[in-house]
Order: sequence, then structure tokens, then C-alpha cells
Amino acid sequence: MNGSHAAPAGSPAGYRETYARWQADPTGFWGEAAKAVEWIKPPQVIFDASLGTYGHWFPDATCNTCFNALDRHVRDGRAQQPALIHDSPVTGTKTVFTYAQVLDEVATLAAVLQDLGVAKGDRVIIYMPMIPEAAFAMLACARIGAVHSVVFGGFAANELATRIDDATPKIILTATCGVEPARVVEYKPLLDGAIALSRHKPDACLVLQRPQVEASMHATRDRNWRTLTAAARATGRKADCVAVAATDPLYVLYTSGTTGRPKGVVRDNGGHMVALLWNMANLYDVKPGEVMFTASDVGWVVGHSYIVYGPLLHGATSVLYEGKPVGTPDPGAYWRVVAEHKAVSLFTAPTAFRAIRKEDPQAKHLAGHDLSHFRALFLAGERADPDTLHWAQEVLKVPIIDHWWQTETGSCIVGNPVGLELLPVKPGSPTVPLPGYDVRCLDEGGRPVPAGTMGAIVLKLPLPPCALPTLWHADERFREAYLTTYPGYYNTSDAGYIDEDGYVFIMGRTDDIINVAGHRLSTGGMEEVLASHPAVAECAVVGIRDALKGEQPCGFVVLKSGVTQSAAEVEKELVALVRDRIGPVAAFKLALTVNRLPKTRSGKILRATMKKIADGEDYAMPATIEDPAVLGEISTALKGRGIG
Ligand code: COA
Ligand code: AMP
Repeated sequence: MNGSHAAPAGSPAGYRETYARWQADPTGFWGEAAKAVEWIKPPQVIFDASLGTYGHWFPDATCNTCFNALDRHVRDGRAQQPALIHDSPVTGTKTVFTYAQVLDEVATLAAVLQDLGVAKGDRVIIYMPMIPEAAFAMLACARIGAVHSVVFGGFAANELATRIDDATPKIILTATCGVEPARVVEYKPLLDGAIALSRHKPDACLVLQRPQVEASMHATRDRNWRTLTAAARATGRKADCVAVAATDPLYVLYTSGTTGRPKGVVRDNGGHMVALLWNMANLYDVKPGEVMFTASDVGWVVGHSYIVYGPLLHGATSVLYEGKPVGTPDPGAYWRVVAEHKAVSLFTAPTAFRAIRKEDPQAKHLAGHDLSHFRALFLAGERADPDTLHWAQEVLKVPIIDHWWQTETGSCIVGNPVGLELLPVKPGSPTVPLPGYDVRCLDEGGRPVPAGTMGAIVLKLPLPPCALPTLWHADERFREAYLTTYPGYYNTSDAGYIDEDGYVFIMGRTDDIINVAGHRLSTGGMEEVLASHPAVAECAVVGIRDALKGEQPCGFVVLKSGVTQSAAEVEKELVALVRDRIGPVAAFKLALTVNRLPKTRSGKILRATMKKIADGEDYAMPATIEDPAVLGEISTALKGRGIG
């Protein structure tokens, strides 16, 4: 592969100049940024507005993401540099993989996938814990042009089945277990359960037997990961990079929508590389050869972009951490990892810092850890509350960068681009729009609101490289969900405001999505589960404030008349049902039986008012409420549990 290859570097220009350059000439800007990618066929056309749902980036280019993440670095002198450090306090292991070793693992696994019949464009589901093989699997798919879809390990069989039916994978890659601090989570029974539930059946499952759990194998369907890779290695079989169009999908990542049916966010190959490379240098200020520690999970977009692809595309070293911020073994876990691996940046969700602060308010566990390489903390996934931000500033004494993005965009929308220049931090604001994003705040009628006024936060079309071109096999759903409410804009479904300095404040969602410990969950999906219980007549789930997780789901249920079970019994079953159908990650622990739900006269459940009551906030009595007395009943039920 010979293309022009410019080492990505932070722009010498400051933020305002860079943003203005993008505004003046978006295609020139991204055309320039695209030079950081080594293309097979470099783009002649940067953007074609006539293609797809709102246009396509780099429509005539071809490339391979794995080549850019591995091969070129091995070729260019990074063969012996660590690419991936697996640090796993839950299993007591640490393993370093150089770029040459990762390339060998990935090319071998890619050959195994080809032997199993996987070809360009086929989907591969990856249902794996935080182990290096999960990253190898993603890169192996990228290598042969297959489309991976990683499913987070904390999701239950039912959620996995939904994704199997939507993505229709040729094969599924899994490991026998994940290791949580208090228990070992067996993946194989969940996978078997999912395949039993799904209409689509994969041709094969490649199963990695972990030492903690030896799983039984399905005789004809399941294949042993280590046996097949060892056989490929013995014969020296490795797969070459397959050329794909820049617009071909690299992955589909499912994220919560407003119903139980998740949205398959499509990520293309070319735009993804261009944007991540630009961000590594200009937003995260990580240099090739330096170490980035992103404490998330490969099942989330943060893990895709900044545990796997971003650092590797950039020639940096990524820490893949299998542990928690607290309890593995103590609240100094992150400091140890940062110090030991000389990480220059840490990226995690604010909830992790709330957890650390709760256990170690004086940050005593920082003592003895040399953080002299550490330059910045990046927070995303939920709003960084000013209290947590101040604490982190005080104890770490480095810039604390809140930045806002979504699974849909794949990279940051609003941030503080430290690689360009560190802008003054305003607590509660992720700072300013990055190049590519024209962020507006509109009222319900689609009119711009004055500075400082709350409204819907929208993004002027077209979206920049990396942002989703559509949903998997669902262009119409994509248009309806994102493009129709505010014509000409992408609706983020976040509400907030923009102040007179252009700082954006993201205050919460305008839809049924809640954010629990940085995990995006659908209350609509939980309501579907509650409603399926035979004793439940109707229900409503709202996200209520939680000091640690930001929000936690609270389900209000009305039982059918004639139900003989006690309310307490039903509530217990409902908690178990959500855990069983959605997974432990939903953290659904609170089901409350009430006699009635508050509704408008037209029958709309007043979820926002219920949330305000639970959060102990003042609320205006909705003018259209059917019976105001119901709100008192809700308040009493919540107070009975010490809430509100
Ligand atoms: N596989 C299986 N189960 C999982 C899992 C996985 N990969 N990840 C989490 N779970 C389980 C947990 O064990 C827990 O189960 P439990 O109800 O039996 O205790 C449940 O899902 C909820 O997990 P979580 O939301 O992580 O809560 P927690 O109480 O275990 O930990 C934090 C709270 C704050 C420490 C944790 O959420 C955290 O580290 N968050 C910060 C990083 C992050 O994940 N960011 C995401 C996006 S950037
Ligand atoms: P996800 O798709 O899981 O990354 O979740 C995206 C949603 O999380 C956004 O739409 C916001 O509601 C919320 N979010 C993510 N980062 C931030 C942030 N920095 N500030 C406020 N909200 C955030």
C-alpha cells in the first residue's frame, strides 16, 4: 500500500483559527486531515452530498483500517513498541503485546475467520470481555473487510439475540467468561441462550476457553479458538489486508434507542480513520509512541475509538484494563495503572471518579504513584458534574477535560482541544464545538434561542467524517430518528444551552434514554420488560438521580386487578426479570407498586414530573393533568423507599 502518509501532528494553529479554517473550507480541511491515513486509493472526491442519507465522505477512496492500525507501524519502525498492554487486576495478569505481536495475532486470527467462511461485508458478532483477543478480533475483521459488531458483556441473552437478528452474523466470537470483582460471568450459557432465542443462526461460534471457566462446546457449531489459531500458526497461514471502500462499514455498534429495539450505528472505514487521527493529535494531545489509558469497555463506543482504533491508528500504546476504578483492589487502581505504564492521558466516565472519591475522599491512594508522565484526564459518557470536576482538578493537578459525544458520532462533538490549545475550563461545560461540528440550540419550533437559553442541541448537516452515515439496514429509521424533527439538522436528543462565549452545556436527554454509570440505557426497553410480567397492568420507568451512577432506573408499576401475588413478590420478580432480559448493566433495582400512574387527560404518562418528584425538585403542576392527587400518591410511594 503506497499512499501519501503524513505523520499526524497537532496543528500549530490555535482553536479559533482552526475552527475558522474548517468553517471556511470544510472539504479542504478534511482533505488535508485525510493525508494522515495511508490509503490504497487516495480520495479524489472529499465529500459528495448527493450520496446516502446526507452525503458521503471520501466516496472514491479505498483503504484498510487494520493496515493503518498495525502493518504500517510495523513497517515504519514500531514493530517492537508496545501496542497493547493488558492489565488485569481481576485475574492478576499483565501482558504486553508489541505492534509486531499484535499484527501476528490479528493476521493469524483473520486467516482463521476466512477459513470459517467469513468474507468481506459479512458480519461478525464479538461478545467478549476485556481481554486482548477482543481487540484482535475487531482488527481481524477490519483486516478482511468483515463488519464487526461488539456486544457488551453485561448484556443478557435476550439483548444479544436482538443484535444477532439485526446484524445476521456469519459467525460469533466469544470467550467462556468475563471476570467481575465479585463473580465470574459465564458467557457461553448466555450465548447459547441467545442463539436459541434468535431467528438467525450463525454458521459457527469461535470460543476462547479462559482458564477460569471451561465451557462445554456445541458439537457441530462451536470451534475452539486456540486450536484453530494454533493450527493456522503451525502452517504459517495469515490473512492479507483486503481493500475496502472508505464508505464500507467497519463496524455496527448497537446503542439504546427509545424502544427495546436498539439502533445499529454504522461506522465507515475512511471517515473513522480520518477523524480519530485528527482527534488523537488535536484533542487528546497524545503523540505516537505515548501511552493512552482509556478505562471503558470494548463494548462501548469509547472502547472502540480509544481503547482500540484511535491509539493504534496513531502509533500509540493502549492500555486495555480489565478491572474497576475501585475494589480491584482499591481506589488507587487507576493511579497505579497510569503510573506503571506511564500513561499520558486517562479517559473514563465521571461515575468512575465519583466511585473513587466516595471511597477515598482525600485521594490518599495517590501516594507513592509517580504520575509525572500524566498530562490530562478526559471525561465523557455523561455530564461531568462540577463537584466531581473540581475534586479531580484538586487531586490530580492536571487539566480535566469534559467532552461530549455519542455512539452515533464516534468521536467528540464538543470538547477542549488541548492538542491545539487548552481553553479556559467552565465547569459543567464540555467547552466548544470541534471542527466538523456546527452546534446550534433551537426551540421546539426549530428557531435559534438566545445565548444562555435552554433548547434542543442540534448539529447542522452534513455531519463530519466518522459520524454515522445511517443505521444498519434502516435508512428510514435513521431519517426519522435523527433528521426529520429539525430539517437540515441532526437531532442529538440532548438538551442544553450555548453561552455568550460559545461554550456548550449539555444538561440531559430529551428522549427516553437514561445514563446509568456512563452506560446508555433505554427506559422504553425496560418498560417493555416490566409490561411482559403477567401481573403488570401498566408501568413507567424513569431515571432518577443517583449519587454514584448519575442516574438509576426506577420502575413504577400498576398491578392488574385480581392479582394474588403480594406487591413485594411482584417487585422482586420484576427486578430479576430486567436483569435476566436486559442484563446486570441495567442496574434495575427499584420497582415500586402504585395504584395509578399520573397522566394527562389525553393519557400521556407524566414521566418528567415523576422524575422531578423522585429527585426532590420543584415542579409545576401540569395544566393537562387528569388527577393531581396521583402525584401525591407517587410521592408517598417514593418516600416509603427513602426517595424524594
Ligand atoms: N460483563 C458482565 N457483567 C458486567 C459487566 C461485564 N462486562 N460490566 C458490568 N457488569 C455488571 C456488574 O458486575 C454489575 O453487576 P451486579 O449488579 O451483580 O453488581 C452490573 O453489571 C452493573 O455494573 P456497573 O454499572 O459497572 O456498576 P458497578 O456497581 O459494578 O460499578 C462503577 C460502578 C462506577 C465502578 C463502574 O460502572 C465503572 O467503572 N464505570 C466507569 C467506566 C465505564 O464503564 N464507563 C463506560 C463508558 S465510558
Ligand atoms: P453514548 O452513546 O453511550 O456515548 O451516550 C451518549 C449520551 O451520553 C449523550 O447523548 C449525552 O446524553 C451523554 N453524554 C455523553 N458525554 C457527555 C458529556 N460530556 N456531557 C453531558 N452528557 C454527555
